[in-house]
Amino acid sequence: MEILRHAVVLVHLVGFAILFGAWVVEAVGRRVRVTPLMNYALVISLVSGLALAAPWGLDHDLNYTKIGVKLVVLLAIGALLGIGSARQKRGADLAPAVFWLVGLLTLLNAALAVLWR
Ligand code: HEM
Repeated sequence: MEILRHAVVLVHLVGFAILFGAWVVEAVGRRVRVTPLMNYALVISLVSGLALAAPWGLDHDLNYTKIGVKLVVLLAIGALLGIGSARQKRGADLAPAVFWLVGLLTLLNAALAVLWR
């Protein structure tokens, strides 16, 4: 059971890596835009995160306040990606604040996961 949980953590980390990596690629290329890869990665993070939010294969209690905050942050990222794609589909420019918040909130969720024990 424990090894299976570790495998789901790995999938969760892959979701984070793809989401943040996809965002960094755009930031370094000075393209203020969101991409479909960010949406797929967010779904990977959500599904694997919800699976990890259940207390299986663990010898300690989960921090549900932290998990709740992470879920709210993920929903905020989802809303920003939705706003971004809708604007891009209409051919409009994306507000830089929307783009930067996607990266910052992704990093915030990783920091919450690692630093809040
Ligand atoms: C953009 C969104 C997210 C990012 C970047 C993210 C990032 C991370 C990272 C880096 C870890 C590994 C921490 C460690 O092992 O020390 C982690 C673990 C975890 N995440 Fe997330 N996460 C996100 C969304 C979520 C969501 C939405 C949930 C649940 C609703 C969630 C639940 C968990 C749980 C329960 C763990 C602990 C796994 C364990 O130790 O068994 N995460 N997350």
